[in-house]
Amino acid sequence: GPALLARITELIRDVPDFPTPGVGFKDITPVLADAAAFSAVVAEMAARVDGPVDLVVGMEARGFMFAAPVAVALGAGFVPVRKAGKLPGPTVSREYSLEYGTATVELHPADIPAGSRVLVVDDVLATGGTAAATVELLEGCGAEVVGLTFLVDLEFLGGRARLHGRRVEALLGVS
Ligand code: PRP
Ligand code: MG
Repeated sequence: GPALLARITELIRDVPDFPTPGVGFKDITPVLADAAAFSAVVAEMAARVDGPVDLVVGMEARGFMFAAPVAVALGAGFVPVRKAGKLPGPTVSREYSLEYGTATVELHPADIPAGSRVLVVDDVLATGGTAAATVELLEGCGAEVVGLTFLVDLEFLGGRARLHGRRVEALLGVS
């Protein structure tokens, strides 16, 4: 509710020009460090889902911190989407452009049975590159992406437009 929103807003630290000049970084570590806030965020993320979820997918690295506890809260499995070269394979991979630079994400398709109902969780939706690449990987495995949930949506970067047609939830929108 509104109290949680106010608390998250208070805890997230705005760091200008990090990691590169011109980028406004949202430091979510104070949210993780606050027991009550972290627990409330996980509960709220888990509540914003329609219907059953088989798997929660989180993106390395900050997505792991929210996606894994959300998976436990939902009684779902957890599958990591990792940056290139971290998973032993077989992997499927996709290159994407980031707010700063480019990267490649990978996952183990063996962990995603066809028809799985998957919730994607990450800390921040910025340009949407990471999330869109993750959706493409999952749909390529025959999964059904039932929603994507973020702690923060940097709305001015337009990431939501790259996820059209999917259910997108953000606890906090920054315009
Ligand atoms: C950040 C953030 C999101 C992504 C959002 O991750 O945690 O995953 O950027 O940006 P996008 O919507 O423009 O793709 P980053 O790749 O910086 O790495 P980290 O999570 O490992 O810190
Ligand atoms: Mg990330």
